[in-house]
Amino acid sequence: MTVRHYLGVADLSRDETLEMLDRACKLKAKWLKRGRPSKKLRGATLAGIYEKPSLRTRTTFEAGMTQLGGHAVYLGPADIQLGQREPAGDVARNLSRWVQIITARVFAHGTVVDLSCASSVPVINALSDREHPCQALADFMTLVEHFGDLKGRKIAFIGDGNNVAHSLLLMGGLLGTSIAVAGPEGYAPDPAIVEQSRALIGCNRAQITVTTDAAEAAAGADVVYTDVWASMGQESEQEARAAIFEPYKVTEGLLAATGKPETIFMHCLPAHRGDEVAAAVLDGPRSVVFEQAENRLHAQKALILFLLGK
Ligand code: CP
Ligand code: NVA
Repeated sequence: MTVRHYLGVADLSRDETLEMLDRACKLKAKWLKRGRPSKKLRGATLAGIYEKPSLRTRTTFEAGMTQLGGHAVYLGPADIQLGQREPAGDVARNLSRWVQIITARVFAHGTVVDLSCASSVPVINALSDREHPCQALADFMTLVEHFGDLKGRKIAFIGDGNNVAHSLLLMGGLLGTSIAVAGPEGYAPDPAIVEQSRALIGCNRAQITVTTDAAEAAAGADVVYTDVWASMGQESEQEARAAIFEPYKVTEGLLAATGKPETIFMHCLPAHRGDEVAAAVLDGPRSVVFEQAENRLHAQKALILFLLGK
């Protein structure tokens, strides 16, 4: 049997992704109604490899395994010293003998690829420098809950064209949601990802655009989304980036530039009030950031079950 991995949004087809979102909504409803763990993954273990910090990703994968009747093991930087104590491939070859699924949060995307190449169990990208696909799954689940339908919707991503923006671009292309990215020159998304996103569009009518003009990207958007200006590993650039990204702060004025009173605000979190987003927006009535965080749990349960063929 071929092992399926989820290293990026494009690893699942459109139908599989839609099926996943549907299942995630059902798992959430069931959990909120009954709050009892299932026995689906009894005896199964997830190994969570982390080269970087995490609140949401780690907790939701671990709680998700508990809710499915399984167990999770945390492997932090000090525990396994990935790539230093032994190569990623050997780590995966060991883990494959003991656990049923691996998640990995890594600096270089190549590390999660190396893990998957050597693994005989599914590997999930829990964030790399290229993508954050689990975040996009939860975000699109949140959009389905909020709007009912994804077709014809538009997300304006304002800020750094990094991992989160990449996964949103790819999922937008896959599911037919337009994405407009606006950020400073030199911080645009990887052109190869933009091209891949456009190639995924197929016969849906999504539009994928990249600009340096935040108001232009925001025009007509149903969602304004942002991410931190300095990602994990870029802490030394924080001050320089703060100056460069200042015109891309999401304010109430930028939300008004969508021209739609029903526009919602999204952020993957953690957020920095007063930097990439004004406190009034993050804590305001249009913000769905904690729904996004909540949905990480259920989207990832659906993903784990899919990859394990359950
Ligand atoms: N959004 C997200 O991935 O959060 P953590 O970094 O806390 O896992
Ligand atoms: N772009 C951010 C996302 C955090 C969830 C980072 O990589 O740190």
